Amino acid sequence: MKLAVPRETLAGETRVAATPESVKKFKDLGLDVVVEAGAGAAARIADADYAATGATIAPDARAALADADIVLKVRGPSGAETGLIRQGAVVAALLAPHTEKPAIAALAAQGAIAFAMEFLPRISRAQAMDVLSSQANLAGYKAVIDAAAQFGRAMPMMMTAAGTIAPARVLVMGVGVAGLQAIATAKRLGAIVSATDVRPATKEQVESLGGTFVAVMDEEFKNAQTAGGYAKEMSAEYQAKQAALIAETIKKQDIVITTALIPGRKAPVLVSEAMIQSMKPGSVIVDLAAEAGGNTPLTKAGEVVEVHGVTIMGYSNLPGRLAVDASSLYARNLFNFVSLLVDKKTGNLAIDWNDEIVKGALVAKDGEVVKS
Ligand code: NAI
Repeated sequence: MKLAVPRETLAGETRVAATPESVKKFKDLGLDVVVEAGAGAAARIADADYAATGATIAPDARAALADADIVLKVRGPSGAETGLIRQGAVVAALLAPHTEKPAIAALAAQGAIAFAMEFLPRISRAQAMDVLSSQANLAGYKAVIDAAAQFGRAMPMMMTAAGTIAPARVLVMGVGVAGLQAIATAKRLGAIVSATDVRPATKEQVESLGGTFVAVMDEEFKNAQTAGGYAKEMSAEYQAKQAALIAETIKKQDIVITTALIPGRKAPVLVSEAMIQSMKPGSVIVDLAAEAGGNTPLTKAGEVVEVHGVTIMGYSNLPGRLAVDASSLYARNLFNFVSLLVDKKTGNLAIDWNDEIVKGALVAKDGEVVKS
């Protein structure tokens, strides 16, 4: 069986879907691995490093994909790549199933067995494959580091002979995986941290990290978590109450990290222009929801802008700004997922279509889109 790792084609995508470590593990599983030349360059992995662990280096995507049984990518394949995938091949990537429906239809039409890694169920058995968690964790860390680098003041309180410097105040909005790591990172840097979310379970998590929890805790809040552990879209009434509370809190903040997402929906707007205007000049907002429409109306996806004296960072691929670690974790997630699909004795595909993880992530099979 041949496993292919093409070079990422999306502009600005620095990550790669396999590392020399994962190549070695795939080889141990009995797979032949082909990596397209230059695939790891932006993640500081040379072709020679892949070759040293047993991969073959293909000169282009056509050669890499020819007859591949398994195709691993970070982002979904481009149209040209999809046209090179053979019928019945497994494709696993961040297919962005909510927005890239035509690309998934094209994979289905090509006869691929396509898995959207975003759709993995959030169950314990899938934790080692959970790409959303591994990437969001790094994004939460990097958001705070980016904000601290931009901020014209220090993060911790400093008592010096020349006087005392006040600690920075950091508000984290959305306490999922990224938010929790942002809180922990900001605390480590010495900031005073508060955080908000609509899921009640997050209150204790914030407090256990030494942060202060800020939220309207009414009846709707008590029921705001879905069975899958995600946030529900809140009513207009709740959002208005939440906005009033945040308006009061945000004025006193130096750095705001927003991470609020609702799967399949546009991100909720949590920070209005008036709130941004109320912040001190030199404050920094890092909007991790930029790609999903942004948690502020002034966020520009992929850009850093300054509005009303506040810098708004809308990087669209924060994990990609830590390409080495992001690739390393992503590659391990994919290895764990693929090993679920392969018979350890024969090295052939042996997919259990009734497995909850397989069913959850599968988006195309037998020429049909099975989920969107
Ligand atoms: P996410 O990326 O979908 O959303 C980020 C955060 O934004 C969430 O905490 C969400 O509640 C919050 N949010 C949404 N609307 C909001 C609003 N209007 N105001 C404030 N906050 C808002 O979430 P992520 O990071 O993917 O995690 C979702 C859940 O899944 C968490 O409970 C997490 O702990 C859980 N999880 C479970 C895993 C498992 O294997 N058991 C693995 C990873 C995550």
